Amino acid sequence: MSGIETLGVVGGGFMGTGIAESAARAGLSVVIYEPEQAPLDRSQASLEKSIGRAVSRGKLSDQEGSDMLNRVAWTRSLDDFDGVDGVVEAIIEDAKAKGSIFKKLDALLPDATFLASNTSSIPIAEIAAWTQRPDRVIGIHFFSPVPVMSLVEIVRAIDTSDETLAAAGAFAATMGKHPVHTADRAGFIVNMLLVPYLMSAIRMYEDGFATAEDIDEGMKRGCGHPMGPLQLADFIGLDVMYAIGESLYEEFKRPDFAPPPILKRLVVSGHFGRKSGRGFYEYPPAKVPAAA
Ligand code: 3HC
Repeated sequence: MSGIETLGVVGGGFMGTGIAESAARAGLSVVIYEPEQAPLDRSQASLEKSIGRAVSRGKLSDQEGSDMLNRVAWTRSLDDFDGVDGVVEAIIEDAKAKGSIFKKLDALLPDATFLASNTSSIPIAEIAAWTQRPDRVIGIHFFSPVPVMSLVEIVRAIDTSDETLAAAGAFAATMGKHPVHTADRAGFIVNMLLVPYLMSAIRMYEDGFATAEDIDEGMKRGCGHPMGPLQLADFIGLDVMYAIGESLYEEFKRPDFAPPPILKRLVVSGHFGRKSGRGFYEYPPAKVPAAA
């Protein structure tokens, strides 16, 4: 047992909702917080759709699906986190926004086993500095789509205690995830390797050296990757890619992490990839069947 029976998730985006789905599937009760109603409604609709798909594919029975859904609550008030055993924050990659959430969580939840961030590129120590309990702050970095990807990176910051580290490891095991451990450095293991690769593919496309399709087919068919790098960047979100590239560049000052100009042009134009309908590729909205 990890000691985490009720989990608070800050942020009901693709990552936050995926974390909630995996936790509910593992039998935990989950509360998802978002300050606005519209993202909460989207989170609920996406979880219902994902559970519905698992039921229709025979991975869950009807009863298991509805029990799982009943274990998840959505709220616009952080006060509803009262009594949660631990929290995972999964909001935008903005150190100040994360810090101010951690400051509030710290005041609200003096007994929480851990306050974890799902950040992919912001140093955990910088987030922990906003709290009075940096020993309880840790990075637990999930991969997208969370219900499918089995990895979590567990990131120990300067002040993270042994107890918090052990609790995060037990929590990952409860969720059925495989933990790898890293020190507190932007990018941790996976993004440190993945981001220069994705940025190189974007530069290759930007230079007109090859088409997006050929770059992606090259890596899928030549290296057995499930998605090519430009498809993957669209899937992760170009705004997220840009923020991670900036954080890594800020940390290491190495040009291979720096976002290429075309990435910035796409992001400022609102082309965030799959979620906005356009990135390196276009994604027409899914057709809703007409009512009978
Ligand atoms: N929620 C729940 N289940 C999902 C899902 C979701 N969002 N998306 C896919 N699945 C499940 C499907 O139900 C299906 O399950 P089944 O085979 O048991 O029925 C299975 O995953 C395969 O899905 P599909 O058949 O729809 O699609 P694909 O076979 O094309 O696989 C994919 C989709 C799993 C996304 C695959 O393309 C893939 O692995 N892509 C690479 C993803 C990757 O690299 N992720 C890491 C990104 S980096 C990151 O997250 C770090 C961050 O900091 C940037």
